[in-house]
Amino acid sequence: MVTKLGLVPAEPPRSRRALRPDLRPKRLAILGATGSIGRSCAQVIAFAPGRFAVASVAGGRDGAALARCAIELNAEFAAVADPAGYGDLKAGLAGTGVEAAAGPEAVREAALREADLVVSAIVGAAGLGPTFAAVAAGRTVALANKETLVCAGAAVMQTARRAGAMLLPMDSEHNALFQAMGAREPETIEVMTITASGGPFREWSAERIANATPEEALAHPNWVMGPKVTIDSAGLMNKGLELIEAHFLFGVPPDRLEVVVHPQSIVHGLIAFADGSLIAGMASPDMRTPIAHCLAYPDRMASGVRPPDLAALGRLTFERADLQRFPALGIAIEALRAGGGAPTALNAANEIAVAAFLARRIGFGEIARLVGRTISAMDAAEELAAPQDVAQALAIHHIAGERMKRLLA
Ligand SMILES: NC(=O)c1ccc[n+]([C@@H]2O[C@H](COP(=O)([O-])OP(=O)(O)OC[C@H]3O[C@@H](n4cnc5c(N)ncnc54)[C@H](OP(=O)(O)O)[C@@H]3O)[C@@H](O)[C@H]2O)c1
Repeated sequence: MVTKLGLVPAEPPRSRRALRPDLRPKRLAILGATGSIGRSCAQVIAFAPGRFAVASVAGGRDGAALARCAIELNAEFAAVADPAGYGDLKAGLAGTGVEAAAGPEAVREAALREADLVVSAIVGAAGLGPTFAAVAAGRTVALANKETLVCAGAAVMQTARRAGAMLLPMDSEHNALFQAMGAREPETIEVMTITASGGPFREWSAERIANATPEEALAHPNWVMGPKVTIDSAGLMNKGLELIEAHFLFGVPPDRLEVVVHPQSIVHGLIAFADGSLIAGMASPDMRTPIAHCLAYPDRMASGVRPPDLAALGRLTFERADLQRFPALGIAIEALRAGGGAPTALNAANEIAVAAFLARRIGFGEIARLVGRTISAMDAAEELAAPQDVAQALAIHHIAGERMKRLLA
């Protein structure tokens, strides 16, 4: 049975493994296996020998790295999205018996291989199609790829409810909120707060931020992540994407969602209830904790990470987010409030702007400015209707991407 959330079973399922220790290993499909989240997943899996079996792994371009992952995880099937990566994948897997395939359809097949849990950890809107396929097939999906909900949140959640799919939030903030929320209904929430470390530019002036280099933006103080999410974090666009993700995931309206800057990254999410209670989800800043929570759910498992030692830390601080110095967050909040296809357009424009920044074609300050201009240039009635499915989301993604490319040109 699934509540209105489409997320949390009304009664948490009893641990099958606790009841039946002889149960077979949990089968995983890992999409984005070569990335930062994918590698952390492999570390958590290595911590519990015999507990998991890997049905499939998928990656984007790097066939050689994917072959190494598949061998390390003893996967049955490996799919690389870019056909140019197939030669390296095939060569790397020669003699191992691991099946290899290439192209977007192969990635979809990896998502649909018989598995108990699909880890969605592809970066960007490229994750939408395969994740949506897994959700539509009624799979349990551990969602790291926030862009899936930003691009097509309403359609994904509706499809999850219809198909009986469960979404387990793997993003650290949403994982903390999920744990703090338990089986409560969204109406009981006064305010849901996502914390931000503030990134490398927390104390910088607006002018210095606008002129930051890729090296400076990639130097995150607390988290080691892939390049796209690290750049998103530096400008707080990542927090905007996370607010949109939380809105769809937990069914909380935009005016009850907040961001608070918390440089220590110990508290990841907070939920205030009508009676004045404030429940905090805390963990050390290490993705292995939310990953282990999702992989073991509804059980618990060791992740290799210790809980924070609050007495040793001594002090946890919180401050308001500064929308003047971090305009990307304000633009994302506007897109969240506008709803419809605005978050989809926001995400598309942002993906291209981040790539242009990393390629040194634009300055850091241009990312938010050009994303804002792209959304303003979209025709609200014609082009920003709420996407009902993947095809409609990708159509908005394409139009916004073209607008952004024109601005860049
Ligand atoms: N890293 C974190 O700590 C963190 C925390 C919370 C949420 N997230 C979210 O998790 C997602 C992954 O982040 P990440 O930091 O792990 O990114 P990453 O290190 O850049 O890894 C991205 C992964 O996606 C693969 N990929 C790219 N395009 C693909 C495609 N078309 N089909 C299949 N695979 C494709 C990449 O393979 P190739 O390298 O071969 O292209 C790689 O395995 C993002 O949505 C991010 O926002 C990450």
